[in-house]
Amino acid sequence: MKVTVHRKAHFNAAHRLYRKDWSYEKNDVVFGKCNNPNFHGHNYELIASVTGEIDPETGYVIDVKILKNIIKAEVEDAFDHKNLNVEVPEFQNLNPTAENIAVVIYNKVKAKLNPKFDLEITLYETPRNFVTYSGE
Ligand code: NI
Repeated sequence: MKVTVHRKAHFNAAHRLYRKDWSYEKNDVVFGKCNNPNFHGHNYELIASVTGEIDPETGYVIDVKILKNIIKAEVEDAFDHKNLNVEVPEFQNLNPTAENIAVVIYNKVKAKLNPKFDLEITLYETPRNFVTYSGE
């Protein structure tokens, strides 16, 4: 019997979407306002979903404190109030789209979780725009 435990978190961060190897004009056509050279911010909402068997002893799939602490260390402390392009090493050469941010978060959180769990990351860049990634 598998159950999924979800933990929500939040961070604010700035980014710019562009490719260094493209002209400003091409970046403008592809990324529009997100190519603003002065960066812009988003209020990101994260849901980390951990699926596994219920431990018959505790009744937990995972102690949510463990998940909370992983998210704090790997996501909030690393990304909150940061300029993703400039201050976060993972995005030095990776466009910080919601898609790529979700993959980076997945990889960081998965590395700290017991491998017996399945993980899915849901990342809202705006209340209407969100992506999911589960390691496929
Ligand atoms: Ni943006």
